[in-house]
Amino acid sequence: YTSEQSALIDLYEKASELFSHILLNTKLGEDALQYLKKRGMTEDDIKNFDIGFAAPEDNLLLSFFKEHKIDQHLMAESGLFIESENQTLRDRFFNRIIFPIKDTNGKIVAFSGRSLVKDKNHPKYLNSPETSIFNKGKVLYNFSQARSEIIQQKTVILYEGFMDVIAAHRAAVKNGIATMGTSLTEDHINAIKRVADRVIICFDGDAPGQKAIARAIELLRQSSDLQISVVFIPDNLDPDEYVNQRGTAAFQNLMQQTGESSTSFLLKYDRTGLNLANENDQLEYLKRALKRISSLKDALEQDLYLNQLSDEFKIDKRDLKDQLRESVADRI
Ligand code: GTP
Ligand code: MN
Ligand code: MN
Ligand code: MN
Ligand code: MN
Repeated sequence: YTSEQSALIDLYEKASELFSHILLNTKLGEDALQYLKKRGMTEDDIKNFDIGFAAPEDNLLLSFFKEHKIDQHLMAESGLFIESENQTLRDRFFNRIIFPIKDTNGKIVAFSGRSLVKDKNHPKYLNSPETSIFNKGKVLYNFSQARSEIIQQKTVILYEGFMDVIAAHRAAVKNGIATMGTSLTEDHINAIKRVADRVIICFDGDAPGQKAIARAIELLRQSSDLQISVVFIPDNLDPDEYVNQRGTAAFQNLMQQTGESSTSFLLKYDRTGLNLANENDQLEYLKRALKRISSLKDALEQDLYLNQLSDEFKIDKRDLKDQLRESVADRI
């Protein structure tokens, strides 16, 4: 770290202490604490993940830093304040639950705040901006804390969000990390490759979650030899909701199953929006499926899925193989 980066890290550490204190020990934090408890969070979770609260009161952090004689320039650089034209600062976060985001060394490099109010003028989550030590495309939430567990199991579980990682951790599934809503990047994958052989994708069970899974699989295949499986969370639930509604044992069970192969997931995903009782849609699906199968490197795997298609649609496997060759030729 440069000296300015170290100074920023110290400042974030101080800010985090204030946010935690407000959440756990003050009247200002009561509603937020209540909210978190209602979502199944324990005090252990709150302490483990250094969760805090930025009160609805104006400029608490600003006053706190002024009291501590923090350098004005550093405060402006930190991203924790919004600078107006006449260069006065005000707090960026208010009335938000605060999640510190840590780098691979476990140092706080940014914060994300979840709004307690639900309306269009307040984005659900607000991040502090990118700085010389925070690059959203590089950071993975909980990577530093999960590292030893990931290495031990050679497996990483990839979630979408903070609450999912934390709920899984509460259910003693501790090798989870999150992309925090951004799409997976090659930098993320490189970081994962260094510690794991296998990725379990465990995104939300809703439509955007499914789309993100398909995209993550494609990128993981392009940029790594990581083994990929998909755990599908049923009933449109988020992993965090699944833990709370179905219980720890059910979640552990779900995660211990081998999960679905990435190809089988993609072939199911390719059916979305199609009505397979309709012949045009059947043809469209076959086209999509053959394209998927043609991109598989393993001949045995290709054969497996061709057999499935042939059985399902009562089409001669030789015809499918001919089509497959054309599909390959199209791509070259
Ligand atoms: P909860 O409602 O608190 O459980 O949030 P979630 O994690 O289920 O949110 P969602 O599935 O919509 O998004 C997944 C992740 O994307 C979140 O955990 C955030 O990291 C990120 N995210 C979601 N909404 C926003 C947003 O409005 N702005 C930003 N910057 N990030 C967001
Ligand atoms: Mn969202
Ligand atoms: Mn989601
Ligand atoms: Mn959620
Ligand atoms: Mn979610």
